[in-house]
Order: sequence, then structure tokens, then C-alpha cells
Amino acid sequence: MGTLGTYETVRLDHEDGITFVVMNRPEKRNAMSPQLHFDMHDALDDCIMDDATKVVVLTGAGNAFCAGQDIKEFFRASDKDPKARLRNRRASHAWRWEKLSKFPKPTIAMINGYCFGGAFTQVSACDLAIAADEAVFGLSEVNWGIIPGGIVSWNVANVLGFRDAMWFALTGETFTGKEAAAIKFVNRSVPLAELRDTTVKLAHSLQQKNPIAYRYTRDAIRSVRGMSVEQAADYLNAKSDALKTGDPEQGREKAMRQFLDEKSFKPGFGNFKR
Ligand code: COA
Repeated sequence: MGTLGTYETVRLDHEDGITFVVMNRPEKRNAMSPQLHFDMHDALDDCIMDDATKVVVLTGAGNAFCAGQDIKEFFRASDKDPKARLRNRRASHAWRWEKLSKFPKPTIAMINGYCFGGAFTQVSACDLAIAADEAVFGLSEVNWGIIPGGIVSWNVANVLGFRDAMWFALTGETFTGKEAAAIKFVNRSVPLAELRDTTVKLAHSLQQKNPIAYRYTRDAIRSVRGMSVEQAADYLNAKSDALKTGDPEQGREKAMRQFLDEKSFKPGFGNFKR
């Protein structure tokens, strides 16, 4: 049960298990105003609560994915109002990082166009990312005298190789979706005309996975990066044990039965029958 609400700056479009969470200020290239941060927080909660939502696809309305923080409404409007600045910053971090990077359902960033500055954080927070070949990315902060803050630098340093992170952050040079795929900022890129179909196909394939195994795997890959090998071994053993007892679908037993006894499934080539 659950319902998808309506919001001033975010649109929720549902289609066959997928909820498209659309940053919806196309006239401002979907730049993130404080209102967009507040709306996004609630819209993502709707997606968590909505049983029909199996996968979330984050994208932008019009010809932009997101042009970063709204320079007027997010920055200038709170220059003399530290309390508003604090509130905006907190909301901005909460949905883009705390909520999205640990989202209880699969998430895909579908980058349909311009993607600048602060928008790199929500791309990095999604489990997977597909861009249009034609999309334009840029760490433009250096061009207007600020740093890639709000954990953008941290994300870029984690996701990209060192030389690419330095190059794009220090030059502010733009790069296309194709180049974003080549440097692995996104998983892959396709022509814009194929972007939606490709993303839907991927989303449907993720829907077939055992949900708790998917989530634990995602959490494991994200978490082990900051651990020593000893910590990682301990964490992963504990997670494996938790999965064995905590999976309501009892996926492991089902899969073993189908592979070993019924000979009806080959784990190398696809999912067990849930
Ligand atoms: N903050 C506030 N407003 C923004 C914005 C941003 N990040 N990005 C775009 N807009 C606004 C423009 O000011 C313009 O508003 P107006 O119609 O009231 O004049 C409107 O969106 C359309 O932008 P425009 O520049 O005319 O569109 P474009 O298609 O020619 O160019 C961009 C698109 C994204 C390349 C360009 O707007 C841009 O460089 N934006 C800033 C990107 C950036 O540096 N983001 C990092 C912020 S952390």
C-alpha cells in the first residue's frame, strides 16, 4: 500500500513497477532550489512506502538532468540568513546522500541532458547510472569561484580515477555522456532516443532479483570501500548470516533446491524462480 503524492518541483510517474522521480523545473534546467530538496525528501519517502514501486529511476524534465544547486535560490537567497542556509544544506544532503545511497529499493540515475556541479552527488548516490550519449556533464564550480562542495569532491574522488577527477574539477571542462561512460562516471551511455527503453529494460531486470540480496550486495560494495580487509571479512560474514536468517523469501534455500535437486536453474545465467 502507499500513494505517490504530487509536488511543486518533483513529478512522480509510475509505469509497470518503475517510478520515475523527475526533477521538474525545466525552465531552470532543474536546478535544485530549497523547495526541490524539501519535495524530493517527501517524494522519495512515497517511493519507499509505495508497494507498486519496485525500482526508482531519477531523471530530469526537459533537456536537463539537473544544472546543480540553484545559484539564486539555494546560494544567494540565504547568504544573509545562516539559519535558512543550514536548513537548505541539511535537506540537500539528506535526500541526495543519506536517503538515496541507502535506498531500500534499486535506484538508477537516467541522465537525459545537462548535469552540473551538485547533481554529481545524486548520480553517485544511485546504484547504477545510464546517460544519453548527448548529455553534457561539468564540474563548473571552479568557473565561478567556488569548490565542488556538499560532498561532490568526495563523490568524484571515489567514483573517478584520480587524474580524471583532478582534470574535470580543475579545468571545469564539460564532457559528454559517452565520455562519462568511458571514465566510468556512469555505467553506460546510449543515444538519447534509446535512453528510456534501455533504462526500463535494466529496471525490469533488477526487479527480478531477490530484493534483500540485492540491497545487501549494494550496501556491501558501498561499505567495504572504507574498510580494512579484516573489517570487511567480519562485516561480510555478519551480513551473510543476517541474510540467511532474515530473508522472508528464503531465496538461498529456494535457489539451492532449484539448482541441486530440480536442476531447473543455472545461477551463472540468470535468477532463480522467486
Ligand atoms: N541556478 C540557477 N538558475 C539556473 C541554473 C542554476 N544552477 N542553471 C540554469 N539556470 C537558469 C538560468 O539562469 C535561466 O534562468 P532565466 O530564464 O530566468 O534567465 C534558465 O535556467 C535557463 O538557463 P540558460 O542558461 O538560459 O539555459 P541554457 O540551456 O542556455 O544553458 C546551462 C544551460 C545548464 C549550460 C546553463 O544554464 C548553466 O551553465 N547553468 C549553471 C550550471 C552550473 O554551473 N551549475 C553548478 C551549480 S553548483
